[in-house]
Amino acid sequence: MTIEAVLNVDLDGPRINRHLYGHFAEHLGRCIYGGFYVGEDSGIPHEGGIRLDVVDALRALSIPNLRWPGGCFADEYHWRDGIGPKDERPVMVNTHWGDVEENNHFGTHEFLALCELLGAEPYISGNVGSGTVREMSDWVEYLTRAGDSPMARLRAANGRAEPWRVRFWGLGNEAWGCGGNMTAEHYAQEARRYGTYCRDHGDNRLYKIAAGANGADYAWTETLMKQIGHLGCQHIGSTPYHALSLHYYTITGPSWDAKGSATDFGADEHYATMLAAARVEELVAGHAAVMDCYDPSKSVGLVLDEWGTWFDVEPGTHPGFLYQQNTLRDALVASVHFDVFHRHADRLVMANIAQTVNVLQAMILTDPDSNAMVLTPTYHVFAMNRGHQDATALRVDLRTPLPVRPVGDATLTTVSMSASRKDGRLLVSLSNLGAEAAADVEIELRGGAVTAVDARILTSGALPDHNTPQAPSVVAPRAHDGVTVDAGRLRVHLPAHSFVTVTGAL
Ligand code: AHR
Repeated sequence: MTIEAVLNVDLDGPRINRHLYGHFAEHLGRCIYGGFYVGEDSGIPHEGGIRLDVVDALRALSIPNLRWPGGCFADEYHWRDGIGPKDERPVMVNTHWGDVEENNHFGTHEFLALCELLGAEPYISGNVGSGTVREMSDWVEYLTRAGDSPMARLRAANGRAEPWRVRFWGLGNEAWGCGGNMTAEHYAQEARRYGTYCRDHGDNRLYKIAAGANGADYAWTETLMKQIGHLGCQHIGSTPYHALSLHYYTITGPSWDAKGSATDFGADEHYATMLAAARVEELVAGHAAVMDCYDPSKSVGLVLDEWGTWFDVEPGTHPGFLYQQNTLRDALVASVHFDVFHRHADRLVMANIAQTVNVLQAMILTDPDSNAMVLTPTYHVFAMNRGHQDATALRVDLRTPLPVRPVGDATLTTVSMSASRKDGRLLVSLSNLGAEAAADVEIELRGGAVTAVDARILTSGALPDHNTPQAPSVVAPRAHDGVTVDAGRLRVHLPAHSFVTVTGAL
């Protein structure tokens, strides 16, 4: 084996917050209706209308949190429309996504029931764009207040006496765009005002997340940081918000109307996608650097609550429903993101892929005709990386340069890697983004040795390969025998376009 890259791994670092493996479900296309929720009269096995095969598949990922109800939908969602008897709930038009009617059958109680089934923490995005401070404040009371109060009584009348525990609370979404087209200065004031009236009831403690920047808008982050700096972020109860979000999608193609097909692409488009995905590192590092100026102790969190690929919708599907297939290329986009998340675990506290079922870079696709459920290549990356949740991130240093290739005017590093340790186990994730050539990597563990190595690989014959109801396991993990261990050194063979995880006892 000719070793192309030598890397050192230090066996200490910050904790990888499990919430970096978070999810996002919006009232958009077939994510909620037909994806998570099939209704109480469905022939598909369900509990209270919630699809159980989807729940089981996500539980297997140890899904830590689920963001809802949007996205752009959050800023036109009025929570009172989604409580009480279903046949009395008002119908609205989902103007952002498909201009279709929304019957509000999936509302607060259904979402919290879904979170309970998943064993996931709810992350609720409140409506700043078209709502009111009172409406948001009442929703928090409805969800989290025990005992006697107007909202607690209303909740009990709707069948739930006990409050839920809700920690993660979004103060609007994309306030610079669909969430109200605000300036950063105006939104920062709004976030302070809304955040002030989202109260901690009883022992429920909200972790309030202000709607953050789009991509490289560092000025937005700076404006939000200036607004809370002097309030003292350490005093968590009195702080109007505790974290800022960031949205970054992997988008290529010449224009918004021609982002490229999810499945019909060549090597050039593949590399352009990898380059766009890898850019998340520059963005996370850039926003973290701005936050460091105002908050060197890193008490304010950065939350990448929307990320993933965004391609053209599948031919013949509703353009407003954002349904796309998911290939091995998407899997590599996910693995590159996780490597970045692990490297920035000291500031990045949560991330949410968009979106969990049937929308954009989904984990799960459900077939509207056969009702079959398909696990995507991206799902398998979440599964193979599960052991990184709440593990200690390990620093990886390069002793020799990693392989690179030019992509347009830029240079793409074609091997990506990260590592963590937890409970005496080492987990190393490695991706070969190269479309044609294999890569061999040697890893030297500083401060320890590893034994009993076990490796898994996700790859297939071609990058556009994907899973369908007819062929559900074209891209699925299997055992990998291309790993050897010798005196504290791991040697890993990475076939072209592959994702490999190596676990070992420390
Ligand atoms: O995930 C789809 C949409 O992308 C979300 O609703 C919005 O926040 C973003 O622009």
